[in-house]
Amino acid sequence: MYGLVNKAIQDMVCDRFGEETWEEIKKKAQLDVDVFISMDGYPDDVTHRLVKAASEILAISSSEILQAFGEYWVLYTAKEGYGEMMDMAGENLPEFLQNLDSLHARLGLTFPQLQPPSFDCTEIEDDSLNLHYQSTREGLAPMVIGLVKGLGARFNTEVDIKQTSSREQGSDRDEFSIDYKENE
Ligand code: HEM
Repeated sequence: MYGLVNKAIQDMVCDRFGEETWEEIKKKAQLDVDVFISMDGYPDDVTHRLVKAASEILAISSSEILQAFGEYWVLYTAKEGYGEMMDMAGENLPEFLQNLDSLHARLGLTFPQLQPPSFDCTEIEDDSLNLHYQSTREGLAPMVIGLVKGLGARFNTEVDIKQTSSREQGSDRDEFSIDYKENE
């Protein structure tokens, strides 16, 4: 994945646990990288190793780390120069979720090697929808839960998200049921 992702993991760890903990995590992940370059591509394995090492050092499950990272990503991208793109993708949670593929398609212009996820919304009601998530990668469904929660915070909207179908358990894709209510 692009370095931007690994850099965001680094930022999150340093913000919350300090530089020393980050150095420990990097060492445990056996990564000999000084700085991640946002626009350079790194093997997915680098990201997975970072998540695993962070999980071991911080004694938090990988799934919780990915979830926290998803929430962090929404704030991180908005402040790292992608705020306008986020603004263009929608003015409320359901609109934004329906525009995720066009957001990543636009990002493909900036990141030519992007292997974006794909999302599809069905059964859209005033207060709920089903979100389908497809990816060339495995194991990132917890990140999606965090991302949707982060978007809830962005739109001042209460969100209740449950995974209703999971590739890890043999389904052909990951599916989530989302209840939402925008705060007055
Ligand atoms: C402007 C904001 C955003 C930027 C700049 C951005 C950019 C990226 C980049 C660079 C990657 C790595 C993919 C690769 O290197 O091949 C990625 C992956 C991903 N993005 Fe976004 N993204 C943004 C917003 C979002 C939002 C709001 C969601 C919410 C669902 C999302 C969901 C994902 C997921 C789940 C992945 C993991 C890749 C996979 O599933 O295969 N992104 N994005």
